[in-house]
Order: sequence, then structure tokens, then C-alpha cells
Amino acid sequence: MNNISNLQKARYEYKPKLPNVLKNISLVKVIKGKLTSSVSDADELKNIFPNTFGLPLINFEVGEKQDSEPINVAVILSGGQAPGGHNVIAGIYDSLKKLNSKSKLFGFLGGPSGLIDNEYIEMSENLINEFRNTGGFDIIGSGRTKLEKEEQFEKVLVNLKKLNISALVIIGGDDSNTNAGILAEYYVKNNSGVQVIGVPKTIDGDLKNDMIEASFGFDTATKVYNELIGNIQRDANSAKKYWHFIKLMGRSASHIALECGLQTHANITIISEEVEKKHYSLQDIVEYIANVIVKRSDAGKDFGDVIIPEGLIEFIPDMKKLISSINNLLEANKVEFEKINELEEKRKFVLSKLENDLQNIYAMLPKDIASQMIMERDPHGNVQVSLIETEKLLIELVGKKLSEYKKAGKYNGKFSARNHFFGYEGRCAAPTNFDADYTYSLGYSATVLIAAKVTAYMVSIRNLSMESSKWLPGGVPLTSMMNIENRKGGNKPVIKKALVELEGKPFKELVANRSKWELENDYVYQGSIQYFGPSEIVDKRTRTLELEKVHTKH
Ligand code: FBP
Repeated sequence: MNNISNLQKARYEYKPKLPNVLKNISLVKVIKGKLTSSVSDADELKNIFPNTFGLPLINFEVGEKQDSEPINVAVILSGGQAPGGHNVIAGIYDSLKKLNSKSKLFGFLGGPSGLIDNEYIEMSENLINEFRNTGGFDIIGSGRTKLEKEEQFEKVLVNLKKLNISALVIIGGDDSNTNAGILAEYYVKNNSGVQVIGVPKTIDGDLKNDMIEASFGFDTATKVYNELIGNIQRDANSAKKYWHFIKLMGRSASHIALECGLQTHANITIISEEVEKKHYSLQDIVEYIANVIVKRSDAGKDFGDVIIPEGLIEFIPDMKKLISSINNLLEANKVEFEKINELEEKRKFVLSKLENDLQNIYAMLPKDIASQMIMERDPHGNVQVSLIETEKLLIELVGKKLSEYKKAGKYNGKFSARNHFFGYEGRCAAPTNFDADYTYSLGYSATVLIAAKVTAYMVSIRNLSMESSKWLPGGVPLTSMMNIENRKGGNKPVIKKALVELEGKPFKELVANRSKWELENDYVYQGSIQYFGPSEIVDKRTRTLELEKVHTKH
């Protein structure tokens, strides 16, 4: 443990706060409650999951002391990093050892691929101590390999059996947890004797429903972005000469953009879900931004900030159509396309193959953006939407629109813009007290579910807007969060992704304040994450959680 900062030393000492019911792990009793169904498509899902569909919700209560057999447990981290992952592992480790010191925890390396390739380490007190309350996933690494095929399930089973492992914890987002559900069903069907438990992770905040109030990592990541946005707003308001276009991570849902817009009172916050619902075109968005810039300029303010969600481009109906046509035509003309070397020639080739209306949209795009759309494709042959620099695209198109306004005598200001993309900056930050407490409690709860011998559950902790002692931990069946969706050309069972609800309180708060924040410099400086100090500062929840809060009594 060389080269550690004083802050990190102090964070090692932080004792995550547990809900009352988990404070003495050997007294926790599992109570099975209401039977569940699914979000929709119950009959189809019942057929796919004959053994794990319709399981009851689970709550924890304080009961009598019970003796526990030693258990060997495996854990993986799956997908993008999110602050708090290390504390989930620490929570599982500590609670397992408290229940029976002979229990063991194995961490499989590099995400699902570690399980398949049998690469693992056994967790020890010393190792865990080095990672308590730290950000990152570096304790065992993560990966995006999909664990979805039966031959993979069999390989994993062989590897788990070698270590006498009877439970697997998958820490991941909606996709990884969908696959956890499929794996759980497969293992029950084959009497494999391995339980599968999911833990809700993702900074994107889109793994959310009645039973999962928040995925871990969202709290910390948005607080990092709020600090950065606040610093930029201060700079903009000091120099009074730049418009800052800030793209924020969130592969598809706009929860991060919305939370940051609400916390910092950015002049403009674009929400992809609204764009889709209202069928806005790219030009509509450009005009909206340009009109706010004119309004502020007329008031003597040639500066401001625009928050853009990472997934925006796929929510603009005409761009979505364009992207899907490009995917299809690149597939259909693969051989011819791959023979072309020059990017500009490739662009022209694509242009020539598009239908008329889409040709116009593609031709209107700045050349570098048009090229980004065809440059790199993912393993399924799709355009890599996340590589498209929407923030630069908007700067360029807004600049053009303002020049038109200038010629028409409608605008007399000066437009100078800077672009930013914040994502990786927040994904490995040291978890806030909320995320540190939440993830440690998730780890403890996973152990309780394992000790209760249940499978196909995700850990659920409710009442998160209240102080941690009042949180309600338990389990929710993975199938109860599923529906059937068309993915890659076929109908598949998937955990329903939570997009921003236009009828939800967070979006309504944005709408209620939008015109005020557009014009005024009403910026709120949230500052950096505070780890020590008064509870109203160090335990402050996200605005999203505050607004969406539900208080449940069980
Ligand atoms: P998860 O849903 O796997 O947690 O990942 C979220 C995310 O951070 C997105 O916000 C972002 O679009 C993506 O991962 C980036 O992926 P990569 O780490 O592969 O660049």
C-alpha cells in the first residue's frame, strides 16, 4: 500500500453505514412476500423461465440467531465501471466471514470472461482492506463479454464446481442481470446446485423500477460531473465569452443529463426521451439552442452552457432512421465498401446509396461527423453511436444557424463555443458516502439471499432517500423486471430499461424551470464531493432520488 493519499488513508477507515436490519447478520431472517409476475408478456416469460418465474418478493427481518454452514461464493464485475463496486465485494466478504469464518469468496477476473476461462483469485482480508471505499473495479477488473450461451454456462459450472462454489454474484447492469436470470433458470433446470444473485450497477441510472430505486454509481458520477459543470459555469460567467457544449455519459437514457441539469441549473438541458416523444428533428434542436443563444445575447449574455446526453443522436427520429439505413447498406455492400480506402470516398459512396430524404440529412452533416458514422462499427456491424461527437455537431450546426440569423438581422452577438465530454471522469471516483453505504449494504444483502438458498434474485434496497438505518433490504426476482423486446432481429426476454419518464417529477422540475434557467445566470455551484463533515453535505442524495422518493413500510 505505497503511494496513498491522506484522503485515501482516511477513507480506508470509513465504516459504511448499514440498515438496522443488517447490523447483526446472523440474526437476519428472510420473509417471503407477494408472488410476482413480470412487467408484461407474462405467458411468454413463464414458458422461458418455468422454474424461476413468479417467485415471491423477499424482505429481511431481525429474527433468531442461526448457525450457518460454510459457503463458497464467486463474484464478478460486469460492464462499465461504477463507483462502489469494491464495496459490494467488501460487503459480501465481511458478511460471509461473519456468518462462518470458513466461507470463501472468489473473484473471477475481467468480468464474465474470467468465469468462462477460469481466471480467479481468492479474496483475503488484506486484499479487501486495500480496496475499501475506493473507486474503480481494479480489484478483479471488469469486461463486456456476454454470458448468454449454454456452452458458456456449462464451462462456468465446471469451473465453479472445481472450487466447490455454490453461489455466483453478478454485479452488472440490465443486460448482465438479464443474462444472470437466464443462467439462474438454466442452473435450476439442470439441478446444478449453483445460485445466481444480481446486484444493480450502472452510472447511467437506467436499471430502476419499483423495487430498485437506484443503481449504484449514479450518485457519485453525477456529483463529479456537477462539480465540473459548476466550474465551467463559473468560468463562463467570469469570462463572459464562451458557450460550453457539454456531453454527458449515459449510453441511452438521459438520467445523468437530467440530474446534472437540475443540480447546476444549466442554461439548456437536452433530454433525449423528450426529443423522441415530440419527434424533434436535428434542425429543431439546433433552432431551439440558437434561439436561446439569441435571447441571452439580446440580454447582453454571449455565454452559457448546454448539457447534451450521450445517447441523443439515436433518439432523434430522422437520425435513427439514417443510422439504421447506414447499418443496412453497409452490410448489403460490405465487399464493395471495404475496398474503398479514402474516408471521403467512403462518405460519398454511402451518400450515393441512401434514399432521397436520408441523403439530404446525411449531406447536411459536417464531414467529420458523417465520417464518424461510418468509420468504426461494433462486432454486430452497427455504427458506433457513442463515437459520434454530438457536442461538436451541435456547435457547428448552431454556428451556421446563428450566421443565417445574423444575415437576416435577427442576431447581433458573438458566438464562440467550447466542447467537453464527461464520462470516464466520474466512473471511477471514490464513492460518496451514499454509494459507499449503499454498495456495502448490497454486498451484505447478497450474502443473506445466498444463505437463504434462493436463486434468480436481484438485491433490492428501498427507502434510499431516508437515512441508511431505515433502508429496507431484500430481494426481487429477476424475471419480475422483464418483458419481451425485439433485439437483434429476434424477440428476447430482457430486464426493462428505465428511460426518463416525461411524466416523472425530475423531468417536470426541469420543464417548470427551463425558461428561467435559459435566460438567467441562476447557476448552482455544487462543489466537489465531501466525504467528511455535516450529514446534510456528506449524505446528500441526488435530486432525482429526492424527487422520486417513496417511503415503504415493507
Ligand atoms: P454500464 O451500463 O455497463 O454500466 O456502462 C455505462 C457506460 O459508462 C455508459 O455511460 C457509456 O456509454 C459506456 O459505459 C461506455 O462504455 P466503455 O466503457 O466500453 O467505453
